[in-house]
Amino acid sequence: MKVLHVVGARPNFMKAAPVLSALAGRRGVEQRLIHTGQHYDVNMSDVFFRQLGMPVPDINLGVGSGGHGAQTGEIMIRFEAVVKEQKPDLVLVYGDVNSTVAAVLVCSKLEILVGHVEAGLRSFDRTMPEEINRLVTDQIADFLFTPSEDGDDNLRKEGISPEKIFRVGNVMIDSLVKLLPAAEGIKLPGIPERYALVTLHRPANVDDRSTLKGILDSLSDVSRKLAVVLPVHPRTRQRIGDFGMNTEQIHLLDPLPYIDFLSLQTRATVVITDSGGVQEETTYLGIPCLTMRENTERPITVSMGTNILIGRDPGKLARELSRVLDGGAKKGTVPPLWDGHAGARIADVLISHVPPRLS
Ligand code: UD1
Repeated sequence: MKVLHVVGARPNFMKAAPVLSALAGRRGVEQRLIHTGQHYDVNMSDVFFRQLGMPVPDINLGVGSGGHGAQTGEIMIRFEAVVKEQKPDLVLVYGDVNSTVAAVLVCSKLEILVGHVEAGLRSFDRTMPEEINRLVTDQIADFLFTPSEDGDDNLRKEGISPEKIFRVGNVMIDSLVKLLPAAEGIKLPGIPERYALVTLHRPANVDDRSTLKGILDSLSDVSRKLAVVLPVHPRTRQRIGDFGMNTEQIHLLDPLPYIDFLSLQTRATVVITDSGGVQEETTYLGIPCLTMRENTERPITVSMGTNILIGRDPGKLARELSRVLDGGAKKGTVPPLWDGHAGARIADVLISHVPPRLS
């Protein structure tokens, strides 16, 4: 079986690493890693490959940044040529980024089997570009690997045939389990003893001047009680500059490598985020998470985990922060199958379902 893995943006890398590694040990499997180049800065991409122990991509499409149409279209044009040349039996796509949907569209027209890792998640908010990417990808993919039961339910409601759905657990947690000892073994210099760790990059939060100002003002309020540490995504860094925002009260850092960021999460008093994956990682680690979004495609982190949705309500942020500081943080449990073995379960499904090559 020849498998092409398609990755493009930072959150794809920690999802693909365990699947690549699980398939590498299986007989008769040949793999190629394709990087679309959606993320290209060294600290948004290369350093993740090194820390996650991933092979250097066999092919980098080098698409870079652009509007949604230009970026998705460029990936499709370049990836189509790769598929025609490589002739895979199966393509694996990850998560919900533009690279994911672009690759799946190409495969559907070339009649190549596709597996979607992290299928079935829904925020039910179609203003999020990722929600469109999820919906389209899941309609087309042949193997839908879900992290939790809500994913299966969403897919069935959308008319996806149950034989295509495989609940395998959370691959992102595989990477976390593997690298947690390394993360616990380091302590980054210059970080206060107690702090709120913040991530912020959603277009809905950072692209509009007054929204971004409101969020940075609430973070300044937080900093009166607890130091605020914010590794800044390039998109956010650009907006802070464009809008001339004041970030004096906040410890701004460059984007961090995986192990360094994980180390910061394990030691944080609280995490404040608009990321998807961070909601899951904090649930696994049992660290309180306040999510600056009105909805989440990962509701299990709220129902079972430590996550609380606070939207952009500064009052709610202040109340929940006080609760954490007063020792009353929400307690959670780790969802089923978030156990470090999701990649191996995906490999099992593929080995038993993808027809072997005749040649
Ligand atoms: C993308 C994903 C989002 C994911 C996020 C994680 C889509 C639609 N969005 O958003 O789901 O949570 O990645 O980071 O696919 N830039 C750099 N260097 C880089 C990459 C980006 O400077 O290596 C800057 C560019 O100015 C670019 C902007 O960041 O225009 C946004 O990058 P893009 O890949 O379009 O989307 P993200 O906001 O990163």
